Amino acid sequence: MALQDFLDQLDELGTAAESAFGDAADTETLEAARVTFLGAKKGRLKSIQQQMGSIEREDKPMAGKAFNATKGRIEAAFEAAQQRSNNTDSDSVANAQFDASLPGATFRCGNVHPITQTIEELKEIMGRLGFSIVDGPEIEDDWHNFVALNIPDDHPARDPLENFYLATAAASSGAKDPVGLLLRSQTSTVQIRVMEKTAPPIRIISLGRVYRPDTADATHYPMFHQIEGLMIDTNVSLADLKSVLRLFATSYLGDDVTIRFRPSFFPFTEPSVEADYYWNGQWVEFGGAGMVDPNVLKAVGYDPEEVTGFAFGLGVERLCMRRHGVTDIREFYKNDVRFLAQF
Ligand code: DAH
Repeated sequence: MALQDFLDQLDELGTAAESAFGDAADTETLEAARVTFLGAKKGRLKSIQQQMGSIEREDKPMAGKAFNATKGRIEAAFEAAQQRSNNTDSDSVANAQFDASLPGATFRCGNVHPITQTIEELKEIMGRLGFSIVDGPEIEDDWHNFVALNIPDDHPARDPLENFYLATAAASSGAKDPVGLLLRSQTSTVQIRVMEKTAPPIRIISLGRVYRPDTADATHYPMFHQIEGLMIDTNVSLADLKSVLRLFATSYLGDDVTIRFRPSFFPFTEPSVEADYYWNGQWVEFGGAGMVDPNVLKAVGYDPEEVTGFAFGLGVERLCMRRHGVTDIREFYKNDVRFLAQF
């Protein structure tokens, strides 16, 4: 074969291949064009290569060079076409998956723990009745948890088995009269802390954790929350206590709530009552309450002849359970999102 014919054929092949690859509108056409031009067995480039054998020996180097150049040209045209087709393909896949009419992706927000929600609501209710909110420490001493509350040394409430006493530095150093520290067993401690620092009149509530070594069951948990109330003024009476508790219960549970008092005993109140409320056809224990014992008033330096007051201490979990129909206190502390997300 004459060199010039060979070169012309190469040129023609290059142009044909470029336009075929350039025109290929989809992957199938492109693949067909690839097989036509670049196919390893029957491709047109291959068949031109086979013709090289018939070229004059002295023309061979020239022919080989031209062949390689055309091969590079065709391969480049194929790669460009392939690149273009990949881009359009992925565009069309993305387009097919985007449906503007579908609702957007939602992100689940956490929500406030039911006990925290209850605490916030109780604060709000009592705030409207003119009670301000105070906090007290969860690690308490003997004085605030027992002594000032008129709980004598031999009272069963001070039993080591009933309290989480702390192994204090003073106790372990063998000091003679170590300051007993414990995780507070009741929020009544805060009454003492407030009265020690403030002159009457007083109208406060305190909400927080208390600790008792109870075995956890449906109604007990070693840590739970109480709301403590204290009102001290001249001429405060049991009737005031009942009004406040009734307002409190109706605000939290609804208008159809009735309150009743049963006689009881607490070292820090005299008289002491157990308050119940009637709601949804049932009498339910509300918590303890009473008129602050004169001994407590004296312990904080008040004159029981001048001021009187009432106090109450209610379980927060119990209120929340009643309102939402929760039957097991342990649910609050399992941290199971399926439970917590319902509130
Ligand atoms: N502190 C008591 C308890 O944990 C509850 C209580 C009873 C609190 C009578 C009071 C009160 O303030 O007056 O069982």
